[in-house]
Amino acid sequence: MSNLHDRSHFENSYAGKPPWDMGKPQAASAESVDLVISPVLDAGCGTGENALFLAASGHQVTGIDFVDEAIRIARRKADERGLTVEFQVKDALELGDWDKRFATVIDSGLFHVFSDEDRIQYVAGLTHVTEPGARLLLLCFCDEEPGSHGPRRVSQREIHAAFHGAWAVENIRATLLDVRPDLEGISFSEGGPKAWFAIIRRNSL
Ligand SMILES: C[S@@+](CC[C@H](N)C(=O)[O-])C[C@H]1O[C@@H](n2cnc3c(N)ncnc32)[C@H](O)[C@@H]1O
Repeated sequence: MSNLHDRSHFENSYAGKPPWDMGKPQAASAESVDLVISPVLDAGCGTGENALFLAASGHQVTGIDFVDEAIRIARRKADERGLTVEFQVKDALELGDWDKRFATVIDSGLFHVFSDEDRIQYVAGLTHVTEPGARLLLLCFCDEEPGSHGPRRVSQREIHAAFHGAWAVENIRATLLDVRPDLEGISFSEGGPKAWFAIIRRNSL
């Protein structure tokens, strides 16, 4: 069985219909549009719905994903909708030498795929690509979601621990993740998997 942090796991998902790929932005991300300041990074953007939603709202957005097929679809959607987003194939664990800087980072379903070691590398990379005062809007599976199907369950304590130091957790609220309505053989909580939506601000170092 492939691990969720293996690229091949996600390449296989995009060869079919990924459970998260609903053709619309996550409601929790869309509802937080007032918090967004450009330039925006959508880390682990998948086929781009959150990034495209923000571009349609007037934002300057870069979306990265390490699966070629996801980025190919995202670029096609941008063309079809007449929207401009810079979609790049890029590993979110390799942000440490990137010369771009962002005022907002959207993470919709990426952090929760990482191992403990990957979390450290990811947060260091996010710190590198943001200025003090930047915000990360993080949507992840929550430890109150029963069962073990899908990604790692994340506790509030783990979010605080992962971002301790260069970042400060401003708020965490309970929400639900949207998944495809036609999923078969997978049962999550009524209305969708339980999730945390965290607003996390980059401190001065
Ligand atoms: C659960 S999906 C969420 C996709 C999208 N953000 C959404 O809300 O629909 C997680 C995405 O993260 C991508 N991903 C996982 N690990 C990654 C990494 N190390 N670098 C870049 N993308 C990664 C996967 O390919 C997948 O598209």
